[in-house]
Amino acid sequence: MSCICVVSPKGGVGKTTLTANLAQAIQQFGLKVSAVDLDSQNALRLHFGLPLSQRGGIASLVAPGADWQSALVETDSGISLLPHGTSTRAERQRFNEAITRSDLLTRNLKAIANEPDAVLLADLPPGDSAALQAIESLSPIYCVVLMPDSASLSVLPELESGEFLPPLAANRHFFILNLMDLRHHLAQDITEYLRQRLGPKLLGTVHRDEALPEALAARQPLRLYSPGSAALVDIEHLAQNLYRWILASQGAESGKPG
Ligand SMILES: Nc1ncnc2c1ncn2[C@@H]1O[C@H](COP(=O)(O)OP(=O)(O)OP(=O)(O)O)[C@@H](O)[C@H]1O
Ligand SMILES: [Mg+2]
Repeated sequence: MSCICVVSPKGGVGKTTLTANLAQAIQQFGLKVSAVDLDSQNALRLHFGLPLSQRGGIASLVAPGADWQSALVETDSGISLLPHGTSTRAERQRFNEAITRSDLLTRNLKAIANEPDAVLLADLPPGDSAALQAIESLSPIYCVVLMPDSASLSVLPELESGEFLPPLAANRHFFILNLMDLRHHLAQDITEYLRQRLGPKLLGTVHRDEALPEALAARQPLRLYSPGSAALVDIEHLAQNLYRWILASQGAESGKPG
């Protein structure tokens, strides 16, 4: 199993949007794709057409030995989704304690994406979290999402010092620059600066493109809603880059070259 973990020290940079759209783009390579929502905002389900009234998910499945299969939803896209579920503050506390003190998270994610060609995408909350600490034992690739603004620049030292991601992840983290809008000089300058500073660690960029929120509102996959959109081209390019990593990691697991 390969795990791709979409994270950022910043909120609102497009983690959930990219998790859902990358899952759909990676599925085009014929892999078995699952997605898990580890953010109590419970928003990933909306990108897979689940109704607002759908409340179930992993948040309440915290008892020792709990089996998350019962929360798994087979979506119309063919991607298996583990929604977070709605939760009270007390439930969120119990969930965080359970994934910190036990192997609840990794045991269940391994069971759900247990085939060698399985790919699991995880949408994380902004900033540090119990989920970010716990998921490290799956040795994921971390896709750190930034946007071309001053706040993203301000978190670079934290990212580069290893304060944000677990230290072992240093050779498994990449950056995605989202909401790129080259009509604005500041965004242009920051984009150019980040391209130079991040070098090959920059996996790709995604244009600011209203087709993304519109596709979500229309409850349609981006490739059906707006097949010629700039965001779709960008996301498919990112998926290609991730696919190379997936093949390499699966080859390494089976002892074969990727
Ligand atoms: N490339 C893009 N072009 C246009 N709008 C985008 C793009 N990416 C994300 N958005 C919009 O930006 C907003 C924030 O996106 P999203 O919810 O995916 O961010 P997030 O990082 O998951 O937020 P949070 O930190 O709250 O979890 C949403 O309205 C989304 O539709
Ligand atoms: Mg989100």
